[in-house]
Amino acid sequence: MDIFCIQGPVRLSGQVTVNGAKNATLPIMAATLLAEGVSQIRHAPDLADVSLFCKLLRELGCKVERPRKGLLVIDATKIDRPFGDYEIVRRMRASICILGPLLARCRHAEVSMPGGCAIGDRPVDIHLCGLQALGAKIELKGGYIIADAPNGLTGTEVFLGGPFGSTVLGTANVMMAATLAKGRTVIESAACEPEIADLARCLRKMGARISGIGSPRLVIDGVKQLRPFKHTVIPDRIEAGTFMIASAITGGHVTVKNCRLEHLMAVVEKLRATGAIVEPDGDGCTVSMEGPIRPTDITTLPYPGFPTDLQAQFMALLALAKGNSVVVEKVFPDRFMHVAELNRMAANLRKEGPAVLVTGVKELIAAPVMASDLRASAALVLAGLAAKGVTTVNRVYHIDRGYERIEQRLNALGAKIFRENPDAKTEPPQTERD
Ligand code: EPZ
Repeated sequence: MDIFCIQGPVRLSGQVTVNGAKNATLPIMAATLLAEGVSQIRHAPDLADVSLFCKLLRELGCKVERPRKGLLVIDATKIDRPFGDYEIVRRMRASICILGPLLARCRHAEVSMPGGCAIGDRPVDIHLCGLQALGAKIELKGGYIIADAPNGLTGTEVFLGGPFGSTVLGTANVMMAATLAKGRTVIESAACEPEIADLARCLRKMGARISGIGSPRLVIDGVKQLRPFKHTVIPDRIEAGTFMIASAITGGHVTVKNCRLEHLMAVVEKLRATGAIVEPDGDGCTVSMEGPIRPTDITTLPYPGFPTDLQAQFMALLALAKGNSVVVEKVFPDRFMHVAELNRMAANLRKEGPAVLVTGVKELIAAPVMASDLRASAALVLAGLAAKGVTTVNRVYHIDRGYERIEQRLNALGAKIFRENPDAKTEPPQTERD
């Protein structure tokens, strides 16, 4: 299992280019199942999760090639068996978004329930209610979702709001299923995340009839058939935000290229509240932090609110603020596995239910820490950049799921991160992934 050895403190400077969005690429890979023929996805990031999704599509009967960096070529002409195996789904929750397309195309699908993960319970009840509303018969058997629609799906009004707001992949599943349903589907309380808007634009290229893209009300008029597509995915706003926070926490000066500031306004506003200077710069922005980090409060919310996927990274920044902050997690209330690890590095964080009270400290001290999930591991890397001494982050396979060669790209900005494999002979365990 690889570990990172991170020498700190460092001050980052220079330019980094953001890759295509993981959370747009995965549902768009699922969308290829809706049409016979060969689709192309450009700017797809080279991540463990994308490779795992390629494996999932091959197991369904698709031909998947990656002829060059960033390009996925997927031939979904033949689907041998609409079956999402537990061995893959338990490792990558995003696999659940093959359910809607398989049901729409094959009128039958068997997909493993994803189960929980480090950031909390990951129920799919809203996905299933949405598909049932479209006429699917859903049964749970032996940990699998068995979905049937022998006469096809029928459009209707669907409400996708839950106790924590809408559901991103639930919206993806229902929207994709509705593209081939008979008649009109109106999705109320749809997720407005940019990745869902990108998926909707890709579905339109396939011939789907969708309006309200980017709004909480999507209207889909079903069509008989869809065609394969060529699509370039949007930049990864979470990766962009991670690099922006890396500049701020190290008192650096970093230009983040290929990022859409309009997808990150909540984060820009909070970075500026900490005293960071965030300036638009061509197709990206420049982030610098000259003075002391100022405290501020953040509450995570569905888009366009502060993204839960940047909560851990921002908490690492606030841990070094001159004063106290409060971090409230409203999307995944248990998403605090990074708190204990940051406290091992001399942070002063106290969890109170769905909130963490952050008492800023003068400095973080390097320590051995354990990555638990994708974004928590990113937070530990950022803390290691600012901490005094050598921080070792264990189980970095978590971070490889969502960040391409992160240590090489951070080192190009002045970081000193060494990837080591103390027991080179063994493979990382096939553990759960959020
Ligand atoms: C997507 O997960 C992202 N993953 C997550 O990013 C992200 O944190 C999350 O959206 C929220 O923005 C991908 O896009 C691959 P949800 P998703 O359904 O769709 C509850 C990362 O780090 N809920 O929007 O699974 C759920 O428990 C990952 O890249 C139900 O109650 O999240 C949660 O509290 C981590 N019932 C809230 O809704 C349901 O049927 C939001 O979950 C579905 C969800």
